[in-house]
Amino acid sequence: MNNQSAGIFITFEGGDGAGKSTQAARLAAALEFRGYTVLRTREPGGTPVGEKLRSLVLDHGNGEIDAHTEALIFAASRAAHATQVIRPALARGDVVLTDRYIDSSVAYQGAGRDLGQDAVRSLNEWATSGLQPHLTVLLDVDPELGRRRRTAGQAAEDRLESEADAFHTRIRNAFLDLAAARPGSYLVLPADLPVDELARQILARVDTLLPDPAAAAGEHAAPQPAAHSVATDGSAL
Ligand code: TYD
Repeated sequence: MNNQSAGIFITFEGGDGAGKSTQAARLAAALEFRGYTVLRTREPGGTPVGEKLRSLVLDHGNGEIDAHTEALIFAASRAAHATQVIRPALARGDVVLTDRYIDSSVAYQGAGRDLGQDAVRSLNEWATSGLQPHLTVLLDVDPELGRRRRTAGQAAEDRLESEADAFHTRIRNAFLDLAAARPGSYLVLPADLPVDELARQILARVDTLLPDPAAAAGEHAAPQPAAHSVATDGSAL
């Protein structure tokens, strides 16, 4: 584990259409309201090179991309993201909220593309020098609901989203297995709960990880789990 830093690293995971971005935005707003410095970011992407890799791997029309190449592109984007963005933010003491991280590769490439979950995890641990989140929020979405939500929005489905439902079911099961293997590091919630209820439960769990905002703003403040008096009234939600 390589998290010897002042900040808190929280990842949002789940299938397409789970509502990760909505919940990451809600959590960011609630934490900023309380005085925390929050960095919201996403994968693939999050850096200039990562955004180029994002369109390379997600856009239709880049020719065939085999599964190994796909896994390496996601890992390359993640390596840049971890080094250039996430580690520096954690060193400053920020709360970092990332829309997708290593578990997405383990689920989509390891299980969905059948490359093997252990191999994909090793590749990504190497790429990030072992940087792990303090908490992963897994929004568990039924693939059918995910597809309905995606097609209700106007955007066309990307290369991964347009895969068959069986692919998305493998991914869903892989995410749930990852959470079951390390329950203390995950908050698993059904994605079909009302948005406000999801936001409330996520904030309540995150509260148990946070240092006092004043300490977080100071230099090299160390997190003091649960030893603070942050209100949980959800007023910023
Ligand atoms: P995402 O940004 O969540 O999609 P959107 O912008 O539509 O909300 O992710 C894009 C796609 O990339 C999504 O289908 C999941 C896939 N993906 C992987 O297959 N492996 C990965 O490691 C990551 C980060 C994403």
